[in-house]
Amino acid sequence: MQQVLTIENLTKNYPSVRALKDLSLTVRKGDIYGILGPNGSGKTTTLGIILGVTNPSAGSFSWFEEGNGYHLRKRIGAMLDKPSFYPHMNAWQNLGLTSVIKGISSPDVTRVLELTGVDVYAKRKFGTYSTGMKQRLALASTLLGNPEVLVLDEPTNGLDPEGIADVRGIISRIAGEGVTVILASHLLDEVQKVCTHVAVLKAGQKLYEGQVASLLAGDDRIEISSDNPAKLEEALNKYEGIEKIEKNLPMFSVRLKDGFKVSELSAYLIMHGVDITHLAHNKGSLEKEFLKLLSEDRD
Ligand SMILES: Nc1ncnc2c1ncn2[C@@H]1O[C@H](COP(=O)(O)OP(=O)(O)OP(=O)(O)O)[C@@H](O)[C@H]1O
Ligand SMILES: [Mg+2]
Repeated sequence: MQQVLTIENLTKNYPSVRALKDLSLTVRKGDIYGILGPNGSGKTTTLGIILGVTNPSAGSFSWFEEGNGYHLRKRIGAMLDKPSFYPHMNAWQNLGLTSVIKGISSPDVTRVLELTGVDVYAKRKFGTYSTGMKQRLALASTLLGNPEVLVLDEPTNGLDPEGIADVRGIISRIAGEGVTVILASHLLDEVQKVCTHVAVLKAGQKLYEGQVASLLAGDDRIEISSDNPAKLEEALNKYEGIEKIEKNLPMFSVRLKDGFKVSELSAYLIMHGVDITHLAHNKGSLEKEFLKLLSEDRD
């Protein structure tokens, strides 16, 4: 699968703080890639570097496996700062102007206004928009020129719950059209709801990179008990799909290796004559995993 972005060993030192240390990550075509981390963890710095507005101290990045030439920027739609539009102009006029500035030859203003739901109020002056309406127009603006990838920094900041749901819906719709999305957020919930992949940052370092689903599965546990714990334990110890067993009598807490299913384990136990009195599958939550990752000490 085509790599849309590769970042290799990025480091960014500011005079008083190291914002990024040896950060590497890979975004593939079609990913909705979340960069998740608390305030000050280096998310905006990372986006600034890959968009060419911040110079890295060390390391490199490559877009579309073609390097970091400025001409590649045309294939990227980005929303880093608060959107700035002319208050006395309506959405049509503002996006028309943006198209000219961006050098987009065939402005597809109608398409992006529809995609983001701005079409409904496109004839009103920007100065009269609510925060949510402004944010949608900003999203519309990033879509001009039909970019292959969107880079968004905290796209739902400052929005009310309805605005948040709207913007997330728009992002999902855009991704559904085949656009790769890279999204920085400090909100677990957002990444969980919107993203397929995630990199977790803490103090400029990557703690985790992978599928959101795998991070969630990271804490998957199966609790099992039996009237005959010795027999249960013996059977569990023989099962090839067991990653880890914790004994807390009368309960056993089990983690399965990748690719093994709970249903297979329970079938195996029944086949081996184990009389199961309790079997529960506790799925992990991203929040728990995230907090666990963040509480682990790293240099
Ligand atoms: N221009 C700058 N000069 C000096 N330090 C900076 C500059 N920009 C960022 N930093 C520092 O780099 C670190 C990372 O900042 P960054 O803005 O990338 O974090 P962030 O993850 O985007 O945080 P937030 O969630 O608050 O947006 C912070 O310690 C910040 O103070
Ligand atoms: Mg930021």
